Amino acid sequence: SAYVSTEKEKTLAMIKPDGIAGNYTDIIKKTILDSGFSITQEMLFELNEETVRSFYAEHATKSFFPDLVQYMSSGPVLIMVLEKVNAIADWRALIGPTDANNAKITQPNSIRAMCGLDLQRNCIHGSDSPQSADKEIMFFFNKASSDFFVTTEVYGPD
Ligand code: PPS
Repeated sequence: SAYVSTEKEKTLAMIKPDGIAGNYTDIIKKTILDSGFSITQEMLFELNEETVRSFYAEHATKSFFPDLVQYMSSGPVLIMVLEKVNAIADWRALIGPTDANNAKITQPNSIRAMCGLDLQRNCIHGSDSPQSADKEIMFFFNKASSDFFVTTEVYGPD
């Protein structure tokens, strides 16, 4: 999170199943736009277990991996591409720390403090580096263009 850019960047945001189920989509999108990001692409869909395993492959050996796979495939997610100057670091700052319980204490204005529950059900995802942003956007949107019907809408911050 020390990475700072003065260039326009794209990053991947994903509202996780607990965020969608808790009806946080509209307030999260408003927060995104109010914070100066454009939402250049979005799609709502249910990830199957195989897709979750592949997306989180770097965590495959962690003890929490089976839980993470079950949880992330338990309901629809909203995947968005966000764009602004320094989008990657700014989006990570806006969502707050991974553990939503920690977020409520240390970053009460963050999105995870607002809508997350704990370490797993933390309501939202953000790419953690330029490399993962590229990889994650490619993962969903290139694959999606051939495998799925994709709805693309563009929203700007005003
Ligand atoms: S690590 O081990 O530091 O690399 O993991 P971290 O970056 O903190 O978390 C990676 C993602 O896994 C989720 N996670 C968990 N899920 C369930 N149980 C436990 N204990 C747990 N710990 C971490 C966490 O929400 C992260 O999801 P993303 O989507 O990357 O934010």
